[in-house]
Amino acid sequence: MTAHEVRSAASARSFPPGFVWGAATAAYQVEGAATEDGRTPSIWDTFSHTPGNVFRDHTGDVAADHYHRMPEDVRLMRELGIGAYRFSVSWPRVQPTGRGPAVQRGLDFYRRLCDELLANGIQPAVTLYHWDLPQDLENVGGWPRRATAERFGDYAAIVAEALGDRVSLWTTLNEPWCSAFLGYGSGTHAPGRADPVAALRAAHHLNLGHGRAVAVLRETLPPDARIGVTLNPHLVRPLSETPEDLEAVRRIDAVGNRIFTGPMLAGAYPDDLFADTARLTDWSFVRDGDPAAIHQPLDALGINYYTSRVVSASRPDGRTARGTARPASPWPGADGVVFHQPSGERTAMGWPVDPTGLYHLLMSFTADFPGLPLVIAENGAAYDDRPGPDGTVHDPERIAYLHRHLDAVLRALQNGADVRGYFLWSLLDNFEWTYGYGKRVGAIYIDYETQARIPKSSARWYAGVARTGRLPD
Ligand code: NOJ
Repeated sequence: MTAHEVRSAASARSFPPGFVWGAATAAYQVEGAATEDGRTPSIWDTFSHTPGNVFRDHTGDVAADHYHRMPEDVRLMRELGIGAYRFSVSWPRVQPTGRGPAVQRGLDFYRRLCDELLANGIQPAVTLYHWDLPQDLENVGGWPRRATAERFGDYAAIVAEALGDRVSLWTTLNEPWCSAFLGYGSGTHAPGRADPVAALRAAHHLNLGHGRAVAVLRETLPPDARIGVTLNPHLVRPLSETPEDLEAVRRIDAVGNRIFTGPMLAGAYPDDLFADTARLTDWSFVRDGDPAAIHQPLDALGINYYTSRVVSASRPDGRTARGTARPASPWPGADGVVFHQPSGERTAMGWPVDPTGLYHLLMSFTADFPGLPLVIAENGAAYDDRPGPDGTVHDPERIAYLHRHLDAVLRALQNGADVRGYFLWSLLDNFEWTYGYGKRVGAIYIDYETQARIPKSSARWYAGVARTGRLPD
């Protein structure tokens, strides 16, 4: 190899200077301290305490005890060379009933966390809402009710005033699709309601809440604050190229993706979504002016990516062409669409490993929304990690997963995608929603008996990538 060839090979494996290397968590998944310092129940406390909803009835009462062990966790982040920490603020910790004055003890935790991060050279990145709606707000209607969007705007102002001097990276919502369609559509997530119209109303009021929050953040924060939202866009492939299967993809894309990107990024709901769901609702809950209120300029779009999906139209005889089909319950307007489990590699969650899907997603956002910087706000995988006899945790599959997905990010960058950073999900093993503690997605192993932290080999591997900004061959 000539020197020139070596140089270009090296730069081909290098991320741009200034690329942010982060790790992420969410309040209910790691904090614990569920009843301390004035915190009241969120919908996830109620849901997880209701028998039968979560694997072995696990709850987030203690979780990874991050509320008490935060300084140790920040020290571990520094040792691992993490440049930014994406965490969420627990709404019921800082505004227990979801309305009225803030609880200073709750806010103080996040002030201390930010101070600790900044003192260790780590950038704080705040998510305002990662699924823990105050139960009191659910009791009066939750996200299907318009007033919840107003309450979210008020709450955004409280957090912005408390943390605005310390935090420059802001996300309004995390994966509103899950809040709306798993929370109110299939009922598999909190608050556990199964009502397709409630889910569509929730999606709209989450959109509206996002719009209100961005406006409030712009008013309250210094001009250099960077404000965005984090979505989980579904990368959907057709089982075949038949018009019926392509139509199935379109339907999932409408209610899975464009229901959020339409109003947030283009200022309108897609007409085909209205048509698909016309049997359920006339959408009269969308008032004049709402799409404009939702359509706020954003500094970045956060993308969470784990896997892709394969869909087809159901066959007239009720059977699918191949694969194992499941009913598509959290997808209003997409009745008859069948999801397939492709053969091939999977994570412990059973999710197919498809790094190419991430590449396609980044390239399609680049084409559809030119000029909008992208951030991988979550990417990672569950595997059945266990400490070996020497106490260390080796997770070569996770390293391979991260490697291949980072490779996809690098390829997208080389082909013109403006990706500014990557946040590993997750910093710590944690309460994995309906899977409870049965799935481990962290780079740091948690022994839940002792709360000991053991960085897995993937954490060391990721530290090397973050330190050098370069992906090994
Ligand atoms: C996305 C969610 O934002 C996060 O909370 C969850 O743990 C991961 N998916 C993994 O399932």
